[in-house]
Amino acid sequence: MNILIVGAGGFIGSHLCEAILDRHSDWNITAMDISSAKIGHLIGQDRFNFVQSDILKDFDLMEDSVKNCDVVFPLAAIASPLVYVQDPLRIFELDFEANLRIVRLAIKYKKRVIFPSTSEVYGMCNDEEFDEENSSCVTGPICKQRWIYSCSKQMMDRVIYAAGNKYDLHYTLFRPFNWIGPRLDDITNPNNGSSRVVTQFLSNILHGKNLNLVDGGSQVRCFTYISDGIDALIKIVENKNNCADKQIFNIGNPYNELSIKDLAYKIKGLASEYEKLKENASKVEIVVTSSSDYYGKSYQDVNRRVPSIKRAESILGWKPVVNMDDLLTKTMDFYFK
Ligand code: UGA
Repeated sequence: MNILIVGAGGFIGSHLCEAILDRHSDWNITAMDISSAKIGHLIGQDRFNFVQSDILKDFDLMEDSVKNCDVVFPLAAIASPLVYVQDPLRIFELDFEANLRIVRLAIKYKKRVIFPSTSEVYGMCNDEEFDEENSSCVTGPICKQRWIYSCSKQMMDRVIYAAGNKYDLHYTLFRPFNWIGPRLDDITNPNNGSSRVVTQFLSNILHGKNLNLVDGGSQVRCFTYISDGIDALIKIVENKNNCADKQIFNIGNPYNELSIKDLAYKIKGLASEYEKLKENASKVEIVVTSSSDYYGKSYQDVNRRVPSIKRAESILGWKPVVNMDDLLTKTMDFYFK
């Protein structure tokens, strides 16, 4: 099988490439990205072909690459909330428009597409657990620009779903719920808002800066270790008895439900066990800040986000296994050992 991974140099892409090379000796990867920083260690391996390219420009190359693959993962996207509010059009242009071109090529050449939807499509839904087939997608007013990411992904989900019906496009939509692990974000960037929350807190401690609880930190997320997420993706590619065809799966860990406040205290506690962090860990404080000070006025938050994983369990035979403490330790070991 020839697998095209667009955005292979990102967090999910880099782990997916490693897992495919490790586990499936009959799968070949074409890895496209503007940068090879996170996949440089794979270049030169058999069955791994890195193609440096810019999906906003290299249209002919993209068309040839889709034509020559069996399955395409359009993973290139910006997934940082600060960018949603500061540069929403970049989100629309990359996360929606550029990926739409790839989806259209998949329709044209009848290729299977495995698309990263997001937990964010459920937005401010009040359901206890978010369910792929029954939960509503709830976003805020237009002036709350945070929702451009959720809307861009939701629109792509709807386009892909409709193309499945109209053109028999073979697709799977997967929805990561706060996937965490090595290579997630660049923790050397000291700016607030430069990373997702776990790596942001690690970066703050590294730079001796206080940890900020946005609007108090009572908001809840379910954190999922990257290897669990990748196990689900491998099952989706394997597609035994076509079980993943035309399906949507939440891929998250409902057992790792934690408030941001509890997360901050947990990370600060663990940090005291790392030589590179322990001095700062004893000095930094956990402080409350407002979302408008932290992100700006066009931010709006998701208060509680818990996935139902019944579909992934029953259809894919997948279940997350890495608990919260192990997730943090494995991630911190990568950055600080
Ligand atoms: C994330 C991002 O949108 C995407 O990475 C992704 O698609 C999706 O969720 C996902 O991975 O499921 P969010 O969970 O809000 O959204 O992103 P984080 O930046 O990790 O923030 C989590 C929570 O921590 C938010 O409520 C945020 O306000 C809070 N936070 C963040 C703080 O309290 N302090 C900080 O320093 C940073």
